[in-house]
Amino acid sequence: MKRIFIHDVVARDGFQIEPAWVPTEQKIELIDRLSATGVAKIEATSFVSPKAVPNLRDAEAVMSGIRRNPAVTYVALVPNARGAERALGADVDEMVLVVSVSETHNRANVRRSVAESFAGFKEVFEIARGGRQTVAGALATSFGCPFEGVIPEQQVLDGVARYVDLGADSVTLADTTGMANPVQVEALVRRVRERWPDLDLALHFHNTRGMGLANVAAGLIAGVSHYEGCLGGLGGCPFAPGATGNICTEDLVHMLQAMGYDTGVDLDALLAASRRLGEIVGHELPGQVVKAGKSTDLHPAPREADVAPIG
Ligand code: COA
Ligand code: ZN
Repeated sequence: MKRIFIHDVVARDGFQIEPAWVPTEQKIELIDRLSATGVAKIEATSFVSPKAVPNLRDAEAVMSGIRRNPAVTYVALVPNARGAERALGADVDEMVLVVSVSETHNRANVRRSVAESFAGFKEVFEIARGGRQTVAGALATSFGCPFEGVIPEQQVLDGVARYVDLGADSVTLADTTGMANPVQVEALVRRVRERWPDLDLALHFHNTRGMGLANVAAGLIAGVSHYEGCLGGLGGCPFAPGATGNICTEDLVHMLQAMGYDTGVDLDALLAASRRLGEIVGHELPGQVVKAGKSTDLHPAPREADVAPIG
């Protein structure tokens, strides 16, 4: 059975855009629950400016409060050298850098040009190399930008090349506002994999237009084995108009298991964590399996006496 690796990003992509503050102890509780589900990576927080993303201003407290499962890689998003120093101080396992392939979204997100972001990353890599941290490079708006529209494939390949040159341990192509379609995903991923066959590649989709899991299916056809999702289907970029939730981690795992892939994840534990997340945020979540039940959850057949006669 082919192994697929699941990365959950709810504690970062999910909580960064929640309208209400999620108390630190509840963030910690949720991450601890996720740690016991079998997901390979947990993006636990981001070390960004607290003015830019006030919801994650407790990044240090979250990292020091969680109980770490040695089988899980704990990741934090880092926008600059200041963030890398903070992430190092919090002893994250992996830093994920983020730059958009779209100039306009990069300026909206981190107030820099793409070239300035990459120039700043050199220092981040130096900081990470001083510790034990691996570095992942994320390319936001890889499949389209809410300001610029379609992004030429070459621009994405250039971004991958810059991360590879800097020494990134993996690269994530992110569809920040759910613009990707399956044909596009398969074509772009094939080009990346042709040029860098050994690159550890991950895909990050948002379900903004209902194409999220179809895009995962396209990624599978193109050979990708790492996927990011958000518990409950929360999530979104505060600096992209109309951003909505990521693909839902439990729906993703449910689909992969039904397709015969080994995710290493205990789906029931994930569904229980999703229910708890619903209580924490206090509103309905977009995830579907938590409402419908698993496709293997059967219902008792109606007794003959209960079936109304026809006619
Ligand atoms: N952690 C904490 N504070 C930080 C920081 C970091 N990583 N980087 C910068 N700051 C602080 C500075 O100390 C400064 O504080 P002050 O106003 O009290 O002096 C302030 O933020 C501005 O710093 P500056 O270097 O001028 O950055 P900026 O205003 O150009 O903002 C970013 C750039 C990247 C720091 C900011 O846009 C940011 O954090 N964006 C977050 C993006 C994000 O998380 N998007 C969603 C996920 S993709
Ligand atoms: Zn995202």
